[in-house]
Amino acid sequence: MTRKQILLTAAALLVGAVSFAQVHRMDIDLKKVGAPVQPTMYGIFFEDINFAADGGLYAELVKNRSFEFPNDPLQGWKAFGHVEVREDGPFGRCPHYVRLGNPGHRDKWTGLDNEGFFGIGVKGGETYRFSVWARVPDGGDSDLRIELVNTASMGENHFLCQVPLTISGSDWKRYEVILKPDMTLEKAVLRLFLTGKRTPVDLEHVSLFPTDTWMGHRNGMRKDLAQALADLKPGIFRFPGGCIVEGTDLPTRYNWKNTVGPVENRPINENRWEYTFPHRFYPDYYQSYGLGFFEFFQLSEEIGSEPLPILSCGLACQFQNDDPSAHCPVDELQPFIQDALDLIEFANGPVTSTWGKVRAEMGHPAPFNLKFIGIGNEQWDAIYPEHLEPFVKAIRAAYPDIRIVGSSGPDSEGKQFDYLWPEMKRLGADLVDEHFYRPETWFLSQGARYDNYDRKGPKVFAGEYACHGAGRKFNHFHASLLEAAFMTTIERNADIVHMATYAPLFAHVEGWQWRPDLIWFDNLRSMRTASWHVQQLYGEYKGQNVLTLKMDGKNVTGAAGQDGLFASAVKDGDKVYVKVVNTSEQPQSVELAFNGLKKKETVKAVERIDFTSGLLYEDNTLDEPERIKPVKASFIGEGKTLSATVPPLCFTVFVITR
Ligand code: AHR
Repeated sequence: MTRKQILLTAAALLVGAVSFAQVHRMDIDLKKVGAPVQPTMYGIFFEDINFAADGGLYAELVKNRSFEFPNDPLQGWKAFGHVEVREDGPFGRCPHYVRLGNPGHRDKWTGLDNEGFFGIGVKGGETYRFSVWARVPDGGDSDLRIELVNTASMGENHFLCQVPLTISGSDWKRYEVILKPDMTLEKAVLRLFLTGKRTPVDLEHVSLFPTDTWMGHRNGMRKDLAQALADLKPGIFRFPGGCIVEGTDLPTRYNWKNTVGPVENRPINENRWEYTFPHRFYPDYYQSYGLGFFEFFQLSEEIGSEPLPILSCGLACQFQNDDPSAHCPVDELQPFIQDALDLIEFANGPVTSTWGKVRAEMGHPAPFNLKFIGIGNEQWDAIYPEHLEPFVKAIRAAYPDIRIVGSSGPDSEGKQFDYLWPEMKRLGADLVDEHFYRPETWFLSQGARYDNYDRKGPKVFAGEYACHGAGRKFNHFHASLLEAAFMTTIERNADIVHMATYAPLFAHVEGWQWRPDLIWFDNLRSMRTASWHVQQLYGEYKGQNVLTLKMDGKNVTGAAGQDGLFASAVKDGDKVYVKVVNTSEQPQSVELAFNGLKKKETVKAVERIDFTSGLLYEDNTLDEPERIKPVKASFIGEGKTLSATVPPLCFTVFVITR
């Protein structure tokens, strides 16, 4: 190497070292408190996809409990002996039931096995409430045995527990017994059969719930899954979807009126995710509606969220229907509009009102204090505003305080998006629902997405989003990091972004149609993904008001020259939370400079939370649910500026106090 070459190499190394050591000064203005961060800002989006409801959050363990699956009333059941399906049962909207007849010999048996959802998960020593509606058609008594069994057991007994149950009299009555399995099993089977004299008996709505549900509700939620929602500290709870709001056709749209009242009389609905993706086809996927609108409202209340129901606008799923006749004509929309008005009455009306009375009879006389309603999911073209308009007029006239959410279609930008936003403004929608399932490049380019949005239009509801890695459409840490980066633009623009919900929420490992998802589970366990942790950190460190944070006078949006940094800041009483996302592969030095302090006033570092992982393209698993999680680290310093290094590929929340 010549002397000149040596000097050039040394100079290059020096430049490298300088850029490595470059300190990124972030000016945070404490004097001017910015827009409030809405309590609704970070929330959850629930849709019954991936067996999120039946087989998931809804703790019912029996599949096809009312013998109503249309392909086969005994789907999910294995019948033995003399089992007859009948359809003049006690519940008008669920007319089927079974008659167990005498098997004809003292050594033969009549009964049923239920396979549950990918098996029935039970925990040894815990208690399960079995219930059934039953009668003895000819009067007198009939003896049943109820068991949880392990049909694959090599042990002397197949059963994990067994209890007798005697049915008496020819009137339909509800019976219940407690089962206590002696071991934990992910895939148990519920078995019931005639014993004793084998007197024929009729059975309807056969149900099995853990007694230990979320908040102990009998028609309750799986505790670990509901807890995973509560721990997000969600401010908004959108339900029931998603595409299932719309239906593949209008008769199969989500019909909230079928989801309230006694569970025994809620008719099932087809779940469009049964067949939407034929490469992941689940021919036994129905909505029992056991998790219905009352339960959604109740859960919202219990986890501290504002409920946000989304209703059909009279358009069937536009992805699945090109023919205009698939939709309800605008001049025939009245029943759909009435559904929306009645829903508001169900949530908020006095107990003397028709629908308020239904709510009260279900155990909640106090109103749910509904403030928002969404009309339409991912709709597009002129047909959507035409349908939405009469809803807006009717809701405004009857309930002027209810805020209405409209849609910007399925795309994050483009023709429909550009058409629908002004239309939503014209119609006076309060919020516009935006959806984006996009790759890394998109998320990296959106750090300033909301910085220049129209401040005089509707507010934004980022209602469905997730980073779908190019070629990596599965949960992994890197995708979650880019979601964290993107969320800085949500936070910075809290004056116009009022809600944001990652989607979808849940997935059963044996029953998913769509991924990535926020929370995965099997019959016994659940796992919080890296994306869950990002949502959780934003929920936990939400703050109350935005603070201006600038680097070289500019927002920190991952723009050219910003070394892959994204940042935002909020104030929470005396505390300041600064969120910095380093999407680069180098550590980045930052100097948090607090402006607006009095002469002798300083700020003090409290702690920092680092969220990073070497498992860039992996996530937590059910076996190792905690391998990727935020770590609290010490953050020491006091003064008008605080210095720190953000590791490569890391989302850090700095907690600072005045
Ligand atoms: O979240 C899954 C689906 O994605 C939703 O049902 C729909 O709204 C979107 O297309």
